[in-house]
Amino acid sequence: MSGTLKAFIDLAPQLSHFQDDVLSGLSATPKTASAKFFYDSEGSRLFDQICTLEAYYQTRTECGILADQAEVFRQSLPAKAAVIEFGSGSDQKINLLTAALPSVSAYVPIDISKQYLIDTASNFAANKPEIAVSAICADFMQHIDLNQIVTDEPRIGFFPGSTIGNLNPPEAMQFLRNAAKTLGAGGYFVIGVDLKKDPQRLIDAYDDDQGVTAAFNLNLLARINRELDGTFESRSFQHKVVYVNDPCRIEMHLESCAEQEVKIAGQTFHFSKGETIHTENCHKFEISEFQKIAADAGFIAEQVLTDPGKLFSIHILRVA
Ligand code: TRP
Repeated sequence: MSGTLKAFIDLAPQLSHFQDDVLSGLSATPKTASAKFFYDSEGSRLFDQICTLEAYYQTRTECGILADQAEVFRQSLPAKAAVIEFGSGSDQKINLLTAALPSVSAYVPIDISKQYLIDTASNFAANKPEIAVSAICADFMQHIDLNQIVTDEPRIGFFPGSTIGNLNPPEAMQFLRNAAKTLGAGGYFVIGVDLKKDPQRLIDAYDDDQGVTAAFNLNLLARINRELDGTFESRSFQHKVVYVNDPCRIEMHLESCAEQEVKIAGQTFHFSKGETIHTENCHKFEISEFQKIAADAGFIAEQVLTDPGKLFSIHILRVA
């Protein structure tokens, strides 16, 4: 089923940005790649599969908080608001939030994965004709002017999935400060934050035994081959997960299984055996630690909700 979008705005980064980013990341020491490029159509599909894995407790735990504590969301947030979702992905969580907030009048999903965004936003619009849906294809780190799209309603930012943890601390601060400006006076921010816990539990969540997370990580190499004329042999790289204590995070890498050379867009890159491309960080927080970051970025901590096992948290922040 497909519904009508009020607007579709395409601000997505061009292929040249992907190329510049990959070439500069692989020229650096140590080698890195930007996690946002995980999310082509295949990457978005694999990510949805990760979210259903037994080992990946985050999605079901966060959805449980949204469903079980709907009343707290209803009481803490303005009615008739516009919800702006940063990195929207699947519509599972926005469906739970709008079930808790029945008078939401507008929904603005922002995502980098274009076709996936069109499909999910259209589907959401078809199911909820009373909500005006304006989808924006963009990197949520870029400045997005919402003034043409959302006029009078109070704004609620929605940033689930602990995606904030995928930003490095200075980027996270910048993102939150920009969000405070975008959401404006009277604005709120609902943000999912994964909590510190036993390192083995964290490692298992990012290194599942079915190999879905490995396939997701390795898909980046396949995408470089397809779009940037790369010569990666995905069998000569392996998914590697590292736990780091301070600041607490899981690091995702792609490790070269042998000494090898790879060509990308005409440039040659050398890999020694065991050398890695650092593809992602997933930072983990204490509740009070995240509240301090939010306060430094210009938010007041209104509520924090967790599951009984204290695995995950959802913070309701208000623009100060
Ligand atoms: N926001 C998710 C997280 O930090 C992103 C994520 C989940 C992810 N699994 C991953 C990123 C595997 C890279 C690889 O949990």
